[in-house]
Amino acid sequence: MGEEKGITTDVLIIGCGIAGASAALEAAKNGLRVILVTKNSSLEESNTYYAQGGIVSLGHNDYPELLKKDIIESGDGINNPEAVEILASEGKKVVDEILIKELNIPFSRSTPDSLDYAQEAGHSRRRILHIKDTTGKTIEERFITALKKFSNVKLLTDHTAVDLLTVPHHSKNPVSFYKEPQCIGAYVLDNQTKKVKVIFAPYTILATGGCGAIYLYTSNPRGAIGDGYAMAYRAGARIVNMEYIQFHPTSLFHRDADGFLISETVRGEGARLKTRKEQTFMENYNEKKELAPRDEVTRAIYEEMTNSNSRYVYLDLVSYAKCDIKKRFPNIYKTCLKYGIDITKESIPVVPAAHYCCGGIMVDEWGRSSLKNLYSVGEASCTGVHGANRLASTSLLEGLIWGKRASKYISSHFDPAMPYKPSDIHEWYYPEKEEEVDPALINQDWISIRSTMWYYAGIIRTQKRLERAKADLDYLRHRIEKFYKEARMDANVVGLKHGIQVALLITYAALGNPVSCGAHYIKDYERGQATIF
Ligand code: SIN
Repeated sequence: MGEEKGITTDVLIIGCGIAGASAALEAAKNGLRVILVTKNSSLEESNTYYAQGGIVSLGHNDYPELLKKDIIESGDGINNPEAVEILASEGKKVVDEILIKELNIPFSRSTPDSLDYAQEAGHSRRRILHIKDTTGKTIEERFITALKKFSNVKLLTDHTAVDLLTVPHHSKNPVSFYKEPQCIGAYVLDNQTKKVKVIFAPYTILATGGCGAIYLYTSNPRGAIGDGYAMAYRAGARIVNMEYIQFHPTSLFHRDADGFLISETVRGEGARLKTRKEQTFMENYNEKKELAPRDEVTRAIYEEMTNSNSRYVYLDLVSYAKCDIKKRFPNIYKTCLKYGIDITKESIPVVPAAHYCCGGIMVDEWGRSSLKNLYSVGEASCTGVHGANRLASTSLLEGLIWGKRASKYISSHFDPAMPYKPSDIHEWYYPEKEEEVDPALINQDWISIRSTMWYYAGIIRTQKRLERAKADLDYLRHRIEKFYKEARMDANVVGLKHGIQVALLITYAALGNPVSCGAHYIKDYERGQATIF
């Protein structure tokens, strides 16, 4: 049977950052057949790859209760206590077992016998394991190397998930409407041939990462447009907390730098924020100054930029560094130098950027979503660990833990019986006259989405701005839907359809929540004051 008619596997995993890779590794070790797909042409390309700061463990004189307290304080108290408990109590063990023992990750050391723990905002101890300032890159590369050794893992690059395959929605049999809705795989576009394959799987895991790239300024790679949220929403899964979009306070301000992150660990090593007139300002906002929770630092920068009509502020590491800058931050040093900034001699111009989505596909402690046999892990999911604002360096750990948990659960409850045969399911429908895609239309629609999100649903929101966003995006959605139905199948068209859906999910969630909390900040309302729009 041709692949367009259907290929079958035990577990389909969409997305191969740390969460997808961790799920794939566990499923593979348990003997399941895994297909792991990524829309990128490189397996490593993911948000994980760009993570600089590190992964949370437990430092000296540290314990899970303290980590829990920091997570909940950062999350503004709306975290899911059970999920926080899992992360804090299992975290160190999973890091030791998988990353250190199994994958042999060479975390930086302060002495040959002792791991180096970095400091980041909101953490009451130094507890972040890192590999200088390129932690995610090494972790991602080691995972991919490990996965390539399994003959039961098929890695598909350049394949874009278009939609989840759900019954009854995609069934030819009207009687299936009486059954419980269930996910049985996905329609996946081969970016090269432009044909849609049907991948059947009794278990599907969405590990598609976040959606920073639907904002004008982001620390995320351009592909991070929240495909998983859009597909899960269309399939009827529960999506929650989408209003809590975290902005990283410091990305490099430079025309060509494309959101390059200046890690929070730079502030952890003493760096201070300054106005363009060289005045420090964080002491006016929070007694923890530069190490206040990142939503507060972000808003302080935004405020200072607005007050001085400036497009950036400075981050001064050189005057305050407690470390050897070049040795501790080789990647940041090298990258800034490429753009003409020598961070051992001068301050770094920085600006906030969309960074992390604290909400997502609602899942339980095993990564199970509200739709039968659909799982989600990592940033695509919402376990509730992060509440309204994620504590730095907890996301790699959440992806690692829940990836393993999801596949552990699937393996121990594995039932290969598919209630539906491939012949019961609709093949992909191609329009009779497929129109060639005009890239100018796609580019312009993306500019509209990204600037609408940045200005109207960004760091500081108001009811008026959100209502304007809703109206503009709703109009755009109609246009994009029409375009999508007539266009020749293409990864860019699919991306645009996912992107507008995600922009609307965030905007509707923000409009529906009048309470300023964590990363969702509405200027016209006091924190905790509920007013129904
Ligand atoms: C950073 O290095 O500042 C990013 C860490 C994170 O977002 O967890």
